[in-house]
Amino acid sequence: MEKRILSGYRATGRIHIGNLFGTLQNWVKLQSEYECFYEIADIHALTTNYNSTEQMKSNIREMATDWIACGLSPEKSTIFVQSVIPEHAELHLLFSMLVPLGWLERNPTLKKQIRDLNLQGKLNYGLLGYPVLQSADILIYKADTVPVGEDQLSHVEITREIARKFNSTYKPIFPEPQSLLAKSPRIPGLDGRKMSKSLGNTILVNESSEVTKEKIKKAFTDPLKIRKNDKGHPDGCVVFAYYKLVNTDKIEEIRELCIQGKIGCVNCKEELASLLNETLAPYREACSKASQDNIDEILEEGSKKAKKIAKETLREVKEVMNLW
Ligand code: TRP
Ligand code: SF4
Repeated sequence: MEKRILSGYRATGRIHIGNLFGTLQNWVKLQSEYECFYEIADIHALTTNYNSTEQMKSNIREMATDWIACGLSPEKSTIFVQSVIPEHAELHLLFSMLVPLGWLERNPTLKKQIRDLNLQGKLNYGLLGYPVLQSADILIYKADTVPVGEDQLSHVEITREIARKFNSTYKPIFPEPQSLLAKSPRIPGLDGRKMSKSLGNTILVNESSEVTKEKIKKAFTDPLKIRKNDKGHPDGCVVFAYYKLVNTDKIEEIRELCIQGKIGCVNCKEELASLLNETLAPYREACSKASQDNIDEILEEGSKKAKKIAKETLREVKEVMNLW
């Protein structure tokens, strides 16, 4: 049987280059090897943004549009919206009975989030249970493969633990899904932290070349390299990290020039900006052409297909749990 993939992303709207090079290009490739389900996780987006939902619908539409413009095909993959399928929420509730708090409290991704978002003492029930909902997302499709970034590995680990515990408590109906870590390099944000909308350090796929150029001008470089002939350290430099994403055979040359103090950051950034804009041009064109006209239809169609499977799994779950 063809292997099944499920992955997703919180509904955060327009995608940035970290999403494109870190996640999306990998998803696109996997479409020809697996049966793929890609989810726009709007309920997961609520875990940190429950009080500002005005943009939610446009975020969902923009994200779907960008995904498709960047190569996800609604014919090859099932692209759907989490909240359209309440079976996810129901399975989440049933799973919550068998998840010890300790599994959630020691989750390193949660701990980091608490630090980054200053949530000490203010943790919501929903955010604590984030990986339980994610497990429901994955297991309701009995997916065996979950392509994710490093920060999500702990969630897939919890998914396996839940599957194992469910299978041994009731009946073995779930696979133990494996993570598939993309080979792409870690893509830092403009300030050197993880690229993320909430940190305001992104380069969006669908922004103008001018905006990208301006952003790169202000990007974090080697703080010890002030003058052109200062010797630099490219490995800690955001601009150098972006060189690895663009079509160029000059990467080793740039490294040497930087280390030897033969190129200044201003020039180095200008060159990068034009290379990056060139690399992004076809995606940008596709984004601007991709109309949002039939995006609702695509999402409804995908959600309908997903729901059919979700319903079947939930029926099976209730059956083995002896619920009505
Ligand atoms: N937690 C994921 C993220 O922030 C999004 C997500 C929700 C997900 N459900 C999923 C990822 C299921 C993989 C599988 O990126
Ligand atoms: Fe970074 Fe380029 Fe400056 Fe070196 S020269 S520190 S690689 S921007």
